[in-house]
Amino acid sequence: MIRTRSVVAILGSALFAHAATAQGRAELPVIPQPASARPFEGSWPVPAGLPVEVAYQDDRTLSGWGVRVRLVPADSGNGPESYTLTVAPGAVTITAPRAAGRFYALTTLQQLVDAAKAADPAEPRIGSVTIADAPRFRYRGLHLDVARHFQPVSVVKRYIDLMARYKLNTFHWHLTDDQGWRLAITKYPRLTEVGSCRKETMVAKNFSPYVGDGTPHCGFYTQDEVREVVAYAAARHITVMPEIEMPGHAVAALTAYPELGCTPGPFEVMTTWGVSDDIFCPTERTIAFLQDVLTEVLALFPSPLIHIGGDEAPKVRWDASPVAQEIIRREGLKDSHELQSWFVKRMDRWLSERGRRLVGWDEILEGGLAPGATVMSWRGTAGGLQAARLGRDVIMTPGPPLYLDHYQGDARFEPLAIGGFSPLETVYAYEPIPDGLTPEQQRRILGAQGNVWTEYLATPAALEYMAYPRALALAEVTWSPRAARDWAGFQRRLPNALRQLDRLRVAYRLPTVTGLERDVTTLEPRIAIPLAATWPGATVRYTLDGTGPTATSPAYTRPIEITTTFDGTTLTARQFTSDGRAGPIRAMVVRRTVFRERDDVQSSALVLGLRMALIRAAVRSTVGIDTLPVARRAVVAGVTVPVEDEDERVKPFAAVFSGYLEVPEDAMYEFSLTSDDGSTLWIGDTKVVDNDGLHGAEERTGMIALRTGPHPITVRYIQGGGGAVLRLRVRTGTGAWRDVPASWLTHRP
Ligand code: ACM
Repeated sequence: MIRTRSVVAILGSALFAHAATAQGRAELPVIPQPASARPFEGSWPVPAGLPVEVAYQDDRTLSGWGVRVRLVPADSGNGPESYTLTVAPGAVTITAPRAAGRFYALTTLQQLVDAAKAADPAEPRIGSVTIADAPRFRYRGLHLDVARHFQPVSVVKRYIDLMARYKLNTFHWHLTDDQGWRLAITKYPRLTEVGSCRKETMVAKNFSPYVGDGTPHCGFYTQDEVREVVAYAAARHITVMPEIEMPGHAVAALTAYPELGCTPGPFEVMTTWGVSDDIFCPTERTIAFLQDVLTEVLALFPSPLIHIGGDEAPKVRWDASPVAQEIIRREGLKDSHELQSWFVKRMDRWLSERGRRLVGWDEILEGGLAPGATVMSWRGTAGGLQAARLGRDVIMTPGPPLYLDHYQGDARFEPLAIGGFSPLETVYAYEPIPDGLTPEQQRRILGAQGNVWTEYLATPAALEYMAYPRALALAEVTWSPRAARDWAGFQRRLPNALRQLDRLRVAYRLPTVTGLERDVTTLEPRIAIPLAATWPGATVRYTLDGTGPTATSPAYTRPIEITTTFDGTTLTARQFTSDGRAGPIRAMVVRRTVFRERDDVQSSALVLGLRMALIRAAVRSTVGIDTLPVARRAVVAGVTVPVEDEDERVKPFAAVFSGYLEVPEDAMYEFSLTSDDGSTLWIGDTKVVDNDGLHGAEERTGMIALRTGPHPITVRYIQGGGGAVLRLRVRTGTGAWRDVPASWLTHRP
C-alpha cells in the first residue's frame, strides 16, 4: 500500500522546500526531476507580471524581468539538450550549449515559478538553486494514432505543446492504418479521396457482436498542414517521426489502390479494429508505390527516423499468392517471414541511401533484421533485448506499461478502453534498460515511448485523460537519472504539476485515493481499511454498497471498520477536490474466509507435475472447455503456455491444467494469474482468480486460506489467436511474488 506524505511540505513553504530524498538529493517541484540541484542561501522574488508562459518568451523580454539567457559554445555543457539554471537573489541565469537546452531551462523555470505562485500567491519566491540538467535518454517519445480516430491540426498542436512542457522530444505520428489513411500524397490522391473515410465505426468492443454507429469517420492532413505541425513541433524542440504502415495495417490504402493487394479484393476501409489478413503484396509495383509515398514523406518530415510499421502482418495472403511465392523462390527465401524481412530490407536500404533510418515494430526481427533498422519493442521487451544484443538501436515501448490506451484504473468505473492495466505507478516504475545487457548493449537503448492508440479514444478529452498524468511519469522515466526516480516524491509533486494543466483546461485523470489497491480476503471477523487522499485538501468519500461515491456519500475520517462476511463487502472510494471535481472511483472487495482443509489424498500417491490437456478450438471463455475433444495430453512442470512453436502459438487453442497444489504451511495464499487471452484458477470448487474472456495480457489476483498439504487445482486457459501469455504466481502476506514452485504441483499418476 502506498502512503503519501504531506503534500504541504513542498507547497506550503514560502520558498519551495528542498525536500531531501532518500538519496540525499534536493527535490525540486519539477517534472521531470532535474539531474542535479544544489540549493544555496537566499531566494529570487518572482517579478509581478512575469509572463505566465515563461518558456515561450524571447530573451529580450525575459531580461527585462531579471532572467539572463546565454548560449555557450557547443563543446561545453553535457550534451545538446543540457542546460544550467541558476536562481539567485539578484537574477536567474541560464546557460546552454544549444537552443534545446535553453528551452528546457525555461520549462524548468516555468514550473518553479508556478510552484512558487501556488505556495505564496501574494509574494512568490524561488529558493536559490543551481540546477545542472541533461536527459538520461535521447529519445523521449509520445505516440498518437490519428488513423483510428482522426484529430484536427489544432488538437495535434496542443498534444505537442503538452509534450514540450515535460521535455518529451519525439512525437510519433501514426498516420496510416486499416481504418484510415490520413496523409495527403500528391502522386496518389485516392489515398485520401478514398482511404481517409470509413463508412462507420463499430460501437462496442471488437469481441462483441457487430453494431456500427452509422456515422462516416473521415479526415486527413494536407501537406501544408503537415509542414505547419512539423514547424510547430520544431519550435518546441520536438521531432515529428511519421509512421507509414507496411506491409500490414494497409486496408485503407488497398481500398484506394486494390492492385497493391495479393488478391483482387474487394477491400473496404475497416470499421472494426484488430488485424486484417489483407496486407500489401510485396511486388515491385507495391515497393515502387511505397517508395513514391516515402519520397513525399521525406520531403515533409526532416526526422532522421522514419517508421514503417511492420507489425501484425499475417502471412495468409502471401502464403496463398503465386506472386509472393515466386519472389520467395527468386530470392532464395525460406518462407513468408523471410519475405517480410526481405521487403523491410528493401525499404531500409532505400531510406539509408537517403540519409534516414528505418524504425519498425519488433516483428521486423522475424526472418532477419534489416541492417540499418531501429527496433521499437512493443510486445514486451524481448524484441528490444534481442535487437540490443545484435548491436541495433532500440526504443522501448512495451505495453504494459507504456501503452497509454490501457486502463489506468478499475475497468468497472473507467471509460471503455482496449483492455490491459497500466496504472500511473507502473508507468513510473518502468525501467527502460532491461537486465541482462552489457554496458555497450545498454547504450543501444535510445529511450522509451508511450503509445496512445485510439480505437476507443474518439475525442481530444479522451486522449488527454489517457495520456495525462501518465505522460508525466514517462517524462521522468526518460529524462531523470535513475537515482532521482522516487514514486513518493513524484506523487507529492504531481498535484502542483496538474494544477498548471488546469490553467490549460487539460482533461487529465485526477489521482486516485490510495488504500484500495487489492481485494482483501481475511480470516478475521473485523478489519479496518485505511484510505488516504492524494490531492491537497481533498475529501475522501466512500460507500459500502458497491455504488460509486457521490458528493453526499460519507466522508472518510478514520480507517473504515468492516465486519467481514463470506459474501464480501464492496468498498468504493474517490476524492473530491475543494473546487468540486470528483476523482476516479476505486473499489475493493473485503471477504471473510476460513481455512480450506487439505485433501485426504496421500502425498505418497502423488508425483510431480500437472496434467495438461490441449484443446484445438476457438472459444471465447474457459467455461465448458473440459468437454471439448483433447488434441494432446502431457504432464507439465508448471502453468505456462503449453505450445512451444511460435506459428502454433498464434492459432486458437485452449488448455486445462489439473492436479494438486501442495502448500508448505497453513497460510493465506495470494495468487496472480497473468494471461493473454483468458484464464481461471480453481482450488477445489472455489474460483480463486477469474481472468476469463478474450483480452490482451492482463493480470488478476485472488486470495485463499489453505491448510498445509495437497489441494485440488485446475487452471483453464484460452488463446483466441495472436500473442500467448500464461503465468501463475503466488505470495503470502506482502512477500515477493514468485512463480508457483514446480515442487508444489503434483498429480495422481
Ligand atoms: C502495435 O501495437 N500493433 C504496434
